[in-house]
Amino acid sequence: MTVGFVSIIGAGPGDPDLWTVRAARRIAEADVVFYDALTDAAGLVGRTSARCFSVGKRAGERGVCQQTIHELLIRTARRGKHVVRLKSGDPFVFGRGAEESIALAAAGIPFEVIPGVSTAIGAPALAGIPVTHRGVASGLLVVSGHRPEILRGVLSGVRPGRLTVVVLMGIARRPDVVASLVECGWALETPTAIVTAAATTAQEVWTGRLDTLISAECGLLPGVIVVGDVVGVREIVGRFAGQTAATVGVRRGGS
Ligand SMILES: C[S@@+](CC[C@H](N)C(=O)[O-])C[C@H]1O[C@@H](n2cnc3c(N)ncnc32)[C@H](O)[C@@H]1O
Repeated sequence: MTVGFVSIIGAGPGDPDLWTVRAARRIAEADVVFYDALTDAAGLVGRTSARCFSVGKRAGERGVCQQTIHELLIRTARRGKHVVRLKSGDPFVFGRGAEESIALAAAGIPFEVIPGVSTAIGAPALAGIPVTHRGVASGLLVVSGHRPEILRGVLSGVRPGRLTVVVLMGIARRPDVVASLVECGWALETPTAIVTAAATTAQEVWTGRLDTLISAECGLLPGVIVVGDVVGVREIVGRFAGQTAATVGVRRGGS
């Protein structure tokens, strides 16, 4: 029996420019691509001749269930195909990449995992916010805001202060996120940011404090919440966000 191959790939936050070289190569070579809702489907056009299928769902929507995705990957690979499973950010950061890897391993399907730029780090960076900064934050905690009771359990294990907290899947749950942080000792004045639709043309950045997070106008696009003093660094670094050598008029070789 022919056994195919599955490449589980992190697509980064949005723009295909942030795919790794290896990811781009595998996508170009693939027979079939199954992509998530938060990956840039338009970005696949012209970059692969594979058949591309959406298997994603946005929060609160019905979509293809996880078990069905496992079956699709296994069934397609068993037809001898090179399958790409394309996920937003990094497959192993709240991406269910491990579940899919375990399902493939159990089915005896060879696979690889290609890391991507997680939005936990990439979205703040694109907004001019470093997640660590010497003398300001010497650690990073990445949490999901999806389940408040779990969030609280994780936060209760760390001392507020020289640490940055990045919350994924937390935009719609901001009241719970703020309540959990405050309950665990975070000051209401803590600098806080929201970066939505990072690496897309719709990217927006809000900055404020923990006590103004709930009232921040940030729409319904996917976003990350950044809590900690590193948000203040954006005042300097953020001024340069989005610029390139070309946009500031620097040409190769200099003048
Ligand atoms: C299911 S998690 C996937 C995380 C992904 N594996 C990663 O490493 O970034 C979905 C969450 O990622 C974040 N996200 C995804 N795309 C984003 C983007 N372009 N800008 C900001 N946040 C994004 C949001 O917090 C969203 O709720």
